[in-house]
Amino acid sequence: MKTKVAYSCTECGSVNPKWSGQCGDCESWNTLIEIIATAPQKESISTNPRFKGYAGVDETAVQELAAVSFENELRVSSGLSELDRVLGGGLVSGSVILIGGDPGIGKSTVLLQTLCHLSEQHRTLYVTGEESLQQVKLRAHRLGVQDNNLRLLTETHVERILTIAMQEKPEVMVVDSVQTLYTELLQSAPGSVGQVRESAAQLVRYAKQTGTALFLVGHVTKEGTLAGPRVLEHMVDTVLYFEGESDSRYRVIRAVKNRFGAVNELGIFAMTDRGLKGVNNPSAIFLSRYSEPISGSIVMVTWEGSRPMLVEVQALVDESHLANPRRVTVGLEQNRLALALAVLHRHGGIITYNQDVFVNIVGGVRVFETAADLPVLLAVLSSLKNKCLPDDLIAFGEVGLAGEIRPVQSGQERLKEAAKHGFKRAIVPHANAPKSTIDGMEVIGVTRLSEALMHI
Ligand code: TYD
Ligand code: MG
Repeated sequence: MKTKVAYSCTECGSVNPKWSGQCGDCESWNTLIEIIATAPQKESISTNPRFKGYAGVDETAVQELAAVSFENELRVSSGLSELDRVLGGGLVSGSVILIGGDPGIGKSTVLLQTLCHLSEQHRTLYVTGEESLQQVKLRAHRLGVQDNNLRLLTETHVERILTIAMQEKPEVMVVDSVQTLYTELLQSAPGSVGQVRESAAQLVRYAKQTGTALFLVGHVTKEGTLAGPRVLEHMVDTVLYFEGESDSRYRVIRAVKNRFGAVNELGIFAMTDRGLKGVNNPSAIFLSRYSEPISGSIVMVTWEGSRPMLVEVQALVDESHLANPRRVTVGLEQNRLALALAVLHRHGGIITYNQDVFVNIVGGVRVFETAADLPVLLAVLSSLKNKCLPDDLIAFGEVGLAGEIRPVQSGQERLKEAAKHGFKRAIVPHANAPKSTIDGMEVIGVTRLSEALMHI
């Protein structure tokens, strides 16, 4: 039987029987993707006066929340403690995890390591559409895990993958990658939006019905989002992004969505010649500071998911010869820098409109927290005046538009982490300052920007 296909607009959702370059309804361009056509509903039941009820409905379909029984979901360790951390404490059966990242960052490596570890006690299946079996074997050899009962399959045809999976009955399955898959239901080429979406949907349905934990690998486009439709992110339980500079040995896995754990949780790995290894003390690696204090640099404590991390913020303020001075940030949001500089002018009396300002988070980490506001301002000021800040000083705090310093979450834990790494002084929001002292650390609580500036 041949399925009927139609073309749906990704902008407005209208369905057309034929493909065209422009959507006839909302007039946006290149938004039509191939879908499987479904017969339209004939008549809405709620408006039909002859509607007397529907025979196939079970009367116990609605239940009270209190009456719903549940089992604590069983977590299986992936063998990498940092990966377990981003997953929220381990793998849950029946969960679908999408893992995205630039080519060559280590997606296949981390999944092969995980599956090899799991295959010691569980049934596993590694489906690859990108590499030959020899290539997988070579990588396993490099990882030192070649004697293993991991089951491999090279296949890109979804229906065939599912047939084999039904025979193999794996508890954990990896499909590398969704962009290589195709389903015979659609005619478009593998990698097209329609194919990716439909193939992934079939795999997700299979995982949910059989309780298989499924890892899907997704490629990232030049713009930095997962290639294929955003709907992929809605279909799965967990979305992980692999980040990191290709020239650095450190890799970060970030959970951007997780139905089984905290979002924005970070797992930090180092790429070694024998695969990825978890980094247990991440603060230490991003703190490669100079032995002498330098101007424009300060350490802040950021909160990532469920733990604090120390990172260095660097600023360079330089006289500008442009009509619009440059405001460049790496690892930070640019608008927040502009906002912070305006507050610095208005409430600190410090002028930067004739200066180029560059701010960088050292080590390729990205900080999206408002807690970076205060350290950014202190670093900018230090560079502007060319005066070093004490090298045992840390700071964090949000700066409000009225020049007030606002508290951030988990202040105590942040301070403890800093004290553990030998920092002796801290400038933090007043509400985050502890009542008792922390490990010999001098904590200065401030309520206004002017107070913070007075202390340095
Ligand atoms: P890979 O896992 O193939 O990336 P992806 O699937 O995300 O495209 O990435 C492998 C990269 O990591 C490659 O550049 C080689 C490097 N690598 C190591 O440094 N050590 C190792 O043990 C392995 C297996 C790979
Ligand atoms: Mg790969």
